[in-house]
Amino acid sequence: MSNLVSAGVANVAYLGAIALFILALGGLSHPESSRRGNLYGITGMSIALIVSILSAVTNNMELLLGALVIGGGIGLYLAKKVQMTEMPELVAILHSLVGLAACFVGFANFFDIAVWDRYVGVEKVIHDVETYIGIFIGAVTFSGSIIAFGKLSGRLSGKPLMLPLRHWLNLALVILVFYFGYEFATAPTQELAIQPMYVMTAIALFLGIHMVMAIGGADMPVVVSMLNSYSGWAASATGFMLGNDLLIVTGALVGSSGAILSYIMCKAMNRKFLSVIAGGFGTAGGSSSSSSEDQGEVTPIDVIETANLLKNVKNVVIVPGYGMAVAQAQHTVYEITKVLRSKGVNVRFAIHPVAGRMPGHMNVLLAEAKVPYDIVLEMDEINEDFPEVDVSIIIGANDIVNPSAQDEPDSPIAGMPVLEVWKGETTIVLKRSMASGYAGVQNPLFFKENTQMLFGDAKESLDEVLKNL
Ligand code: TAP
Repeated sequence: MSNLVSAGVANVAYLGAIALFILALGGLSHPESSRRGNLYGITGMSIALIVSILSAVTNNMELLLGALVIGGGIGLYLAKKVQMTEMPELVAILHSLVGLAACFVGFANFFDIAVWDRYVGVEKVIHDVETYIGIFIGAVTFSGSIIAFGKLSGRLSGKPLMLPLRHWLNLALVILVFYFGYEFATAPTQELAIQPMYVMTAIALFLGIHMVMAIGGADMPVVVSMLNSYSGWAASATGFMLGNDLLIVTGALVGSSGAILSYIMCKAMNRKFLSVIAGGFGTAGGSSSSSSEDQGEVTPIDVIETANLLKNVKNVVIVPGYGMAVAQAQHTVYEITKVLRSKGVNVRFAIHPVAGRMPGHMNVLLAEAKVPYDIVLEMDEINEDFPEVDVSIIIGANDIVNPSAQDEPDSPIAGMPVLEVWKGETTIVLKRSMASGYAGVQNPLFFKENTQMLFGDAKESLDEVLKNL
């Protein structure tokens, strides 16, 4: 069977797909244009898939279609089944598949004797380096993403694994990867190149595991975006191996946007990128004094008192966190917002950059509930206003409003910018218990004099508050 689409037509289609991917990224940068961005992405990906199949596959079409149906079916099932709160772990496990695919392509490329014989001299070195780097990035992404999946889904502890001399260990492993790379590229026969490639793959798998195991709970947002970036570079490396321009450019787009996101995340959390990657931050369980010292009594409040309080104020700020996503309370939150706004209360939302479990998590939930964008403010836009706020309502948020980030230098979240809700007149915290947040540290905010705790599931509590308003 000959190719159904010529190389020229395929290249033009690929260019179109690349343009659509860039438009998709542009669209995804704002909630208002994100649906359009998604549509561009879907269209670009459909063009890319169809054209690569028609232009590159000459035999075994049945096998490919079978794999497409099975893979597509699994993807569809997962996307339909996944809860919004499980999204980060789904993203992590999908990244692992990109890494695995890069490894498989690398191995297939290596074992294909026709490819091995095709190149000589400089071309062979370049091809070997592409294969080696592709397998390396793929293996790191694969094992790192599986550990990230385990940590995000709670199957593995969020506590960082601190092996003795871990930085030296990493350095030694990276040097070994270079050494075996040299052995691989200079091996005179394919048989002699196999061993260095296998050893490097094992090292890369270990590096991925070690790197993510060493990162603590509170710094996981950076890991997710970092693995996102790695998966892009893995795809790009695959593109080089297969000589596919579309994959190279698309991988580079994902890789660089993931890197930019990691940088933004680090900035939001006041962390140095390299320190996070080197690991050891965000110790779950925390050694901070706030987790162990007796902090006194908390002041509870009930739904009727909360409603009454809200009836007599002018300035309200709502701080949503992971618990709002768990409780799926966003629609009730907006109903309350509408009632309060109709009574002339100034209601605004304060969004912390790492609230929830994925970038933009809260924005997505609020957009789903149709909360107007102009009352949804970023942390930097609203933090200075808290002294003028009458009531701050904290809905299932914990780490992002924890004053120990500012007050306790030995806290695992020390230095992370937080929403300074305690500076307002009254703070109401909605949560089910006194359990700690993702970083595993106790929150002194709950014990402050102007804080009142509304215990219970956020949605159930807010439904009652709405009734009483
Ligand atoms: P957390 O610190 O995780 O706190 C969430 C709180 O919600 C918990 O203390 C929990 O307390 C409460 N909660 C859970 N279910 C609830 C329900 N049904 N009703 C009411 N409350 C409920 O969340 P946060 O303040 O949003 O901070 C985010 C944390 O996740 C940060 O440490 C961040 O570094 C980390 N993280 C973020 C990301 C991204 S990219 N956003 C990714 C990975 C990790 P109870 O159990 O007592 O109810």
